[in-house]
This record gives sequence, structure tokens and C-alpha cells, in this order.
Amino acid sequence: MAKIAMLGSGFIGRFYADSLQGQRSRDKIVSIYSRREESAKKFAEDYKVTHWTTTMEEAVANPEVEVVCVSLPNNLHEAAVELCCKHKKAVICTKPLGRNAAEAKRMLEAVEKAGIFHGYLEDLVYTPKFLKALESVQQGALGRILWAKSRETHPGPHSEWFWDKEQAGGGCILDLGCHCVEIARSFIGKDVKPVEVMCWADTQVKPIDAEDHAIGLVKYENGAIGQFEVSWTFRGGLDLRDEVMGTEGTIWLNSFLRTGFDMFTTGKGADYVAEKAESNSGWLFPVGDELNELGYNHMFTDMFNAMEDGKAARETFYDGYVVNAILDAAYKSAASKQWEPVQLEIWRGKEGLSKEKTQQDYDEQYYLVKEEMTHFGAKKVILKDKKTGQIIEKTLA
Ligand SMILES: NC(=O)c1ccc[n+]([C@@H]2O[C@H](COP(=O)([O-])OP(=O)(O)OC[C@H]3O[C@@H](n4cnc5c(N)ncnc54)[C@H](O)[C@@H]3O)[C@@H](O)[C@H]2O)c1
Repeated sequence: MAKIAMLGSGFIGRFYADSLQGQRSRDKIVSIYSRREESAKKFAEDYKVTHWTTTMEEAVANPEVEVVCVSLPNNLHEAAVELCCKHKKAVICTKPLGRNAAEAKRMLEAVEKAGIFHGYLEDLVYTPKFLKALESVQQGALGRILWAKSRETHPGPHSEWFWDKEQAGGGCILDLGCHCVEIARSFIGKDVKPVEVMCWADTQVKPIDAEDHAIGLVKYENGAIGQFEVSWTFRGGLDLRDEVMGTEGTIWLNSFLRTGFDMFTTGKGADYVAEKAESNSGWLFPVGDELNELGYNHMFTDMFNAMEDGKAARETFYDGYVVNAILDAAYKSAASKQWEPVQLEIWRGKEGLSKEKTQQDYDEQYYLVKEEMTHFGAKKVILKDKKTGQIIEKTLA
């Protein structure tokens, strides 16, 4: 059983609480910190939390608390983590870890110096679909991963601080790109070094300083490409899709909008359909169990199992730091319009990888480029002469 202090009683704090105390969970929130008394009290009442406070340190220092869950605006993550280090409390922090890599690095170094358990709450690498897809990738079902694309787009976040560049640290690249980057990085291999980023970003619609739309490419040392597509200006709900392409196969995942549950209603029922749904009438795409589909259940199970077993979680502050470093390079590239290197002062994965050469022999003279069965019943092969480089085709009987 984990005894948790929840810092923040807003949107994600409540999603987390629903997951943490859902079903027949043994885990319990024992202290809630919120900025305003009425929000802290309301959260305490809703989730039967015995202790509430408007002082962050009081929640962290509460002797009953074993683990602190940081669900605060991005600019408050570091201060919250510092308090956990001071009071030697295990800490799990929502995404993005920092507003930039410098902040994330300080947090990583602080928790490691304090010797406390740390987990990075990147829920979208814990969705049931993602976990199954990753298992297939790791078993080799897709061969060598060449390209992993992840898209998160929606009509924009729900609280004012997200729209303020200083508090949030950026726009949709940071807010949504952090999910996409970690998804692609996981498929490509978290021990494969991200080397450079090319990114386009623009403020197409909203009256804000930060970007509301971006597309980026992340090049990895082994030649694989990660791609992220993010927007705060997308109409139609929350679009979460991934595509993975390998030498032996492909995976397409749709995690939220079109998952096989379509409903038509004139709008007579309840108002809430799913996160960021823009309508409650017409053809709708509800989500069966949002907490599970978004990965929260599997994420907390991994966090607390790891904590109890004295192991590292699948996602740690180190992962949060690598993601921040990739996104820093994306911001630089959007400004310079050039490929920008990923500056990783801390790197714990493989070094010196290069692009694998895969030339399949057809016979002694040729490499196989492609084979195909045609609609007229003939098998065709395209071949490359090993010595001359000439490309030829042959139709086999
Ligand atoms: N899928 C996800 O993992 C996911 C989804 C949404 C948000 N988040 C992250 O969770 C964090 C919080 O986001 P949210 O959507 O819950 O925000 P929110 O605005 O709904 O809630 C923020 C909470 O922090 C408290 N708070 C304390 N000091 C504050 C201050 N100075 N200004 C504003 N709020 C203050 C508020 O009272 C509130 O309880 C962010 O880092 C965000 O990126 C993660």
C-alpha cells in the first residue's frame, strides 16, 4: 500500500486520484495540497483524504506520507521536487519533467543525490495498446525500427497557466510533444541516442506568444527517425495516434478518437463524453475506461511495484530529462530552421551506433531489391547487380 501526498487538485490531480483510488486499490492519498483552501477541502472531501493544506511543504513533510505525486503547473515542478529531496520522500512527477533540460537535469541530479525513488509520469507509454505494441516490437515482430511517429492534437488546454509561456515553459511542443517524443523513443529504443532535431512550429490561431502547432523530426544515432505532430488548434477532440514502421512490419495505434466505439445522440444524455470532446451530440466517439485507456492504471502499478521492490520504474527522471533535451533542440530548430543537435550532458545509453546495412542476397550475382506477386499471376523480382550496381527486373514463371 502506498500512502500518497497529492500536490495539486486540478485536472490531472483528479485523474490521478481516480486511478490511484479506483477499483479495489490499496493505495491511498493521505494528504492534499492545493493553492486555494476551497479546492483543497473539496478534493479532500471527494477522495476522503484526511489531511488537506495550502502549504506545499506541509503536505510533503506529513509523516504519514511515503510518496509525493507532483500534479502542479510546470513552473512549480522543481520547487516541489526540492521539497521531496529535503524531506527524503519518494517522488513521482507529471510530464513534462521540466520547462527545459536545465531544469530537468537539476531535478534528476537532486533526486539522485538525495537517494530517493523517482518516477516520471508519462502515462502514454503505459496504455494497454502501447504496452502490447512495445512487446511486439521488442520481440522483433517489426524487425529493425525505421520510423516511429506519434501525434497528439486537441483544441487546447483547460487552465490559464498553460497559455503563459513563462509558467508553462512553451506551447504545444512542450505540452504534447513530450508524450510523442517518449512514445517514439520507446519504440526506437531508449538506449539509442537521439542526435538531432528538425522542427517547424508556428502560432497559427491563438493569441499567444508560444507555438500552437508544430511538426518535428528526431534523428537517432542508428538512423531511425522519430516524428512528432502536435497542435492546440485541432478541432474534433483528442487525437492520439501512433505509427511504427520496421523492416518486417507496421503498427498503427489509435488510442482515443476512433477506437471502435461510435455513438449517435441528439444530446439528451450527460454532458461529458471523453477528455477534450468538443460536442455532446451527433456522432460521438466515447472512451470505455479513460483511466485505463490513457495508461494511468498501468503507470501507477509500475511506479509502486518498482518502489516496493527497490527498483527503478520504467520511466524515471532520467527519461524526463532526455525528453526535455530533445524538445529544447526542437525549439532551437524551429527558430534557426536548421537541424539542431540534442545536447545531452547526461547520457546513459549506447554510444557510437551507426546505420545498419541490410542487403539481402538473391544469388551470387544479385541483391534482392523487391519481390512481388502480380495480379496477372507472375512473380516479379527487382534485383541489383553486386558488381555493376545495375538494377534489373525478372519475371518468374
Ligand atoms: N496526461 C498527462 O500526463 C497530463 C494531462 C494534463 C496535465 N498534465 C500535467 O499536470 C500538471 C498540472 O496540470 P493540470 O492540467 O492539472 O493543471 P490545473 O490548472 O488543472 O491544476 C493545477 C493545480 O495546481 C495548483 N496550483 C498551485 N499553485 C498554483 C499556481 N501558482 N498556479 C496555478 N495552479 C497552482 C492548482 O490549485 C491546481 O490544483 C502540468 O505539469 C501538466 O503538464 C499531465
